[in-house]
Amino acid sequence: MRIVIASSEAVPFSKTGGLADVAAALPKALDQSGHDVSLIIPHYPQFDSGRPNRPTTETTSFCLRVAVGNKIVNARVLRAKLSRCRVTVYLVDQSSYFDRQGVYGEDNLDYQDNCERFVFFSRAVLEIIQHFNLKPDVVHSNDWQTGLVPVLVAVEMRRRPGLDQTASVFTIHNMAFQGRFWHWDMHLTGLDWKYFNWRQMESFGYLNLLKSGIAFADMVTTVSPTYAREIQTPEYGCGLHGVLSSRTCDLRGILNGVDTEIWNPSTDPYIAKPYTIDTVELGKAACKAALQKQLGLPVRPDVPLFGSVSRMTGQKGYSLIAQSANVLLDQDAQFIFLGSGESHYEDLLTDLAASHPQQVSTTIGYNEKLSHQVEAGCDVFLMPSEFEPCGLNQMYSLIYGTVPLVRSVGGLADSVVNADDQSIARGVANGFSFPEFRSDVFLEQFCRARSMYADKPTWRKLQQNGMLRDWSWKKSAAEYIQVYEKAISKRQLAAECSRGKSPVELTNRDTNSDCHSTSFADGSLPWKTRLSPRNA
Ligand code: ADP
Ligand code: GLC
Repeated sequence: MRIVIASSEAVPFSKTGGLADVAAALPKALDQSGHDVSLIIPHYPQFDSGRPNRPTTETTSFCLRVAVGNKIVNARVLRAKLSRCRVTVYLVDQSSYFDRQGVYGEDNLDYQDNCERFVFFSRAVLEIIQHFNLKPDVVHSNDWQTGLVPVLVAVEMRRRPGLDQTASVFTIHNMAFQGRFWHWDMHLTGLDWKYFNWRQMESFGYLNLLKSGIAFADMVTTVSPTYAREIQTPEYGCGLHGVLSSRTCDLRGILNGVDTEIWNPSTDPYIAKPYTIDTVELGKAACKAALQKQLGLPVRPDVPLFGSVSRMTGQKGYSLIAQSANVLLDQDAQFIFLGSGESHYEDLLTDLAASHPQQVSTTIGYNEKLSHQVEAGCDVFLMPSEFEPCGLNQMYSLIYGTVPLVRSVGGLADSVVNADDQSIARGVANGFSFPEFRSDVFLEQFCRARSMYADKPTWRKLQQNGMLRDWSWKKSAAEYIQVYEKAISKRQLAAECSRGKSPVELTNRDTNSDCHSTSFADGSLPWKTRLSPRNA
């Protein structure tokens, strides 16, 4: 299968969060299972230096010319190979859009021209596909930044010779970020205003690029089965639960995997002592001592060390940590916080480190090496998220024998098995989780983790359960292939529909189909669901 993946970030070229990890690891896993994969991302020069193993890029002779609103924007296209696989990466090099200090914004403020930047990038994806003759069976785009891609595939790409049956898949990594822009930005897309309606690109009066991707893609995925269910409810759907429920038959939740070439305690170059499941006790003890020493905490093997590596935002549950700080610090425990984000959380955690230097170390900023050292050196990983589409750090923790303490939402619920009496008896417990987003419930689990830490045999078992499970991308990549196949068969069906056969006649033939929602090649809706003239 020929697959093109579009993302606004991918390691080792750029990263602000888990999307970058996924956008590199999934193509690699698909390549390893024999598919032909290309990845298209923007080029952000700020990341060019300082990342180890960054593949070299070459400049291609292709000069992109893309219409964005009334402008024609030119760009260069760079090319590289993802390391240890055959995936070709195309980097869109447009300095006025992407050569900036931040990726999406600076000082916690989004760039004002984000709509223009990512409309440009989405259109560039189509031009690269055409110019380099990639002929994809499926174009897979991710999050609002590439939400326009499924629209462009439906409305424009399928009109191009040889590309009429291209299928599209759209993955939601986080409903909280929707790419909502004032309605007038619709003119930047170059699309007919007829698509600006409540079924397709409009939401509460705004242009909504996440909704656009959801509405137009042949198949929609999100990054865990639990999150796929949650986002169809008002509580987690961030205003889009209706559109998601309307696509329930085409929505799949696939848990992210882990790139085990990067996150592997037996080969990790950043940690003090590599270890395996057989040497976890000695290995982690050495890593813990080195981490305590490095961060100026008392080197004490007996004290439980809690760590967190994260964006410091409401999503990640820092309000629970803030509300519980006094009780947490009353315990004989140490804490390491690494991250950056909202200034009130940064300030609070920095102040805690200043007032409790024997117990707390806070590092504000992005530090890849330290993030590996925290995963290896801590005993417990804290992730009490308010919501969590998937979450990667709890899986890194499980691989490193670091027991996660999480709120049971989204991907955290799908990966962490709470150590209650039953799961311990069944030998499946691998961490601690709590249901309600309340500080008293969080503290209860915190205290359970602290006391269970003293029960070494049970603790070893929790570590082993986490380390034994296969967290690699193998299974998830196979699930993506099934989704791609489904998208392709829907597309073939729709193409036949457009050639004059009735949808009913065709869906009767489609034995795999569990629902019949489909659109014609140009993105218009079938007669049954066609919009009323008021909204068309
Ligand atoms: P999200 O994408 O919501 O931020 P994830 O858990 O999916 O959360 O992924 C976050 C990724 O970013 C992980 O790879 C994590 O290690 C990394 N990360 C987050 N903050 C930092 C930081 N301050 N330094 C290094 N890595 C970080
Ligand atoms: C988002 C989510 C996170 C997920 C990541 C990768 O940033 O917040 O939960 O792991 O995307 O899919």
